[in-house]
Parts: sequence; structure tokens; C-alpha cells
Amino acid sequence: NLKDVADFPLGNIVSASKLASTSASNTTFKDILNQEYNSITAENDMKMANMFTGPDTYDFSDGDAIVAYALENGFRVHGHALIWHSSIPNWLNTFEGTDEEFEAQIEAYVKATVAHFAEVTDGDGVPVVASWDVVNEYFDGSAVRTSLFTQRIGTDFHEKAFQWAREADPDVKLFYNDYNIAGEVDKRNAIISMVSNFISDDIPIDGIGMQMHLNHDWPSTDLPTSIQDIADTGLLVHISELDVKANYSDDLSELTVERAQAQEEQYQRVGYYYTSIVPQAQQFGLTIWGVRDQDSWLYDGGSDWPLLYDNDFNTKITHRGLVDGL
Ligand code: XIL
Repeated sequence: NLKDVADFPLGNIVSASKLASTSASNTTFKDILNQEYNSITAENDMKMANMFTGPDTYDFSDGDAIVAYALENGFRVHGHALIWHSSIPNWLNTFEGTDEEFEAQIEAYVKATVAHFAEVTDGDGVPVVASWDVVNEYFDGSAVRTSLFTQRIGTDFHEKAFQWAREADPDVKLFYNDYNIAGEVDKRNAIISMVSNFISDDIPIDGIGMQMHLNHDWPSTDLPTSIQDIADTGLLVHISELDVKANYSDDLSELTVERAQAQEEQYQRVGYYYTSIVPQAQQFGLTIWGVRDQDSWLYDGGSDWPLLYDNDFNTKITHRGLVDGL
């Protein structure tokens, strides 16, 4: 069992509808989740587009169902994600108020959401939602990504967001989350300098999420270097969305043995470098972005096989790779 091999929380993703479903496949899904994992992230249900339904109007019902499941079954919940350019509700895109009114909406949403999910605690008084990705994908390469938030609030919207989240909850762990931190050295350096600016300006931040959407052969030498660089910030390190494409660069009609082995090795390397490089006190956990291949956002009608279980929920050699690495 994955969670028994690791000294830190092992996560996977859920949706409220899957957790509520009693179909055969969703029952098997939940069995695997309960056996192998002790942390969950909402794949989409706790994103802005799903929760922020109108001006000063929120719908937390999906997140609440996920938190209730977590409480009942002993999972930690990682909140994902308060602000992301790719999950903006339609009404907000066309919001006709002034920029000040726009900012007031975002401030109220961040505070209301964090405060709401701080309410549920387990039997020991520990909040079920331990953490939030406060800002997701602020950078595009090493530049600040242009988005509705930079346009209407300014390029410092991310600093404000972390401060609002902290005002709403003094204890919840606040993460910055992004992709290609391992593969793009310029982006990585931009994130590291953002963190040092946060620290010198007293902007609260507790951790960095390295998404880790990898390919079977990429990145190679940068993988340990990047994990070391991120750990050197002294913050918590979350491998937050691990998956490994096997078929990104060519056109395999099925997963070959050779390619599966490269993928296995990549999973093994992530587990090994995370465990051996990140100091234990900074190991927030490792979350895999999906259970079965066919449930992956990268599955693409069967043209990739990025995860640890096949479509019949059998473990693949990638699963063994990760266990070996941990
Ligand atoms: C993806 C989900 O897996 C998809 O179901 C959805 O359509 C789009 O978002 N980086 C992130 C995640 O931070 O939230 C994304 O999840 C994958 C990329």
C-alpha cells in the first residue's frame, strides 16, 4: 500500500459526484482510495468557477461533500485552488463593476472560502482542510502571466491573495502551485525569487506545490536539481499533481514494454528524489493526479497511459516504480 510505504501523506484526486456514486467502478475507486491514500485534492470541485457562483454568492456544497467523506474516512484535504486564470466563472469575466469592486469581490471570495473550509475539524481538533493552493500558475515561463487578475487588480494580486487567505485563517498552510518547475529553470528561479520577496515583505506563504506533470523521458537531470532548489527555500514541498505521459512525442498505438519501463523509472525517480532530498519536516506529501488511466485529464481517448492503475483498476509497473522510489 502506497500510504504505508511513505513517511508523508500520499494523495489522489476526487470529485463529489464520484464519492457519492455507488456504481461498481466508483465503489472500486473508493476502495483503492481508502487503501492506498490518506490525502485528497478536489480535481475541479474546489476551484473558483465551481464555488464562486455570482457576486457575493458561493456554493460550497461539492467541497463540503468531499470534506465530509474525508472526515469519515480519515483523509486530509488539500484545497485546490483559490485563484487560477483557467477557472474563472463566466459572470466574473464579464463583471461590469469598477476595478475596486472587482478586487473587493475576489477578497471576499478568498476570505469566505478559506473561513468556510476552516470550520470542520476531526476528533483531535485538527482541521480537515489542511492547506490551500492560494494562487495557481501565476507565472508563464519566468514572466507574470497576463490574466483577468493582473488586468483588474494588478501584478500584485498574488500577494494580496496570500494576505487575504491568512487573515481568514491564521493556521491553514498556504501554497503557491505551478507546473514545469522541474523542467524550466527560468520559471523555477522566478518562483524562488517570488518566495524570497514574500519572506522579506512579510507576505505569508508556507509551501510550494510542484505539479509534476512529466513525460517518460523528461525532465532528466533537472529533476533532482529542481527538488533541491525548491527545498532550499525552507518551505513545505508538495508534489501536487504527479502524472507521467508515455506518448507525448510520438504516436504509439499501445503502451509498449519499453515505454512502460521508462515511465516506471520516472515515477521511481520522483519518489526517490522527493524522499531523499526534501528534509522530512518539509515533506508535505505527494499527490497523484488520478487513479485509472482513463480518468486522467491526459488520457485523450486512449492515446496516453499516465497513471498507476489500468482501466480495470489493476496496478501497473508504474505503481511498483513509485513504491520502489519511496
Ligand atoms: C485539470 C483537471 O484534471 C481537468 O479535469 C480540468 O478539465 C482542467 O483542470 N493543473 C492544475 C489542475 O492545477 O487543476 C488541472 O486539472 C491540471 C493542470
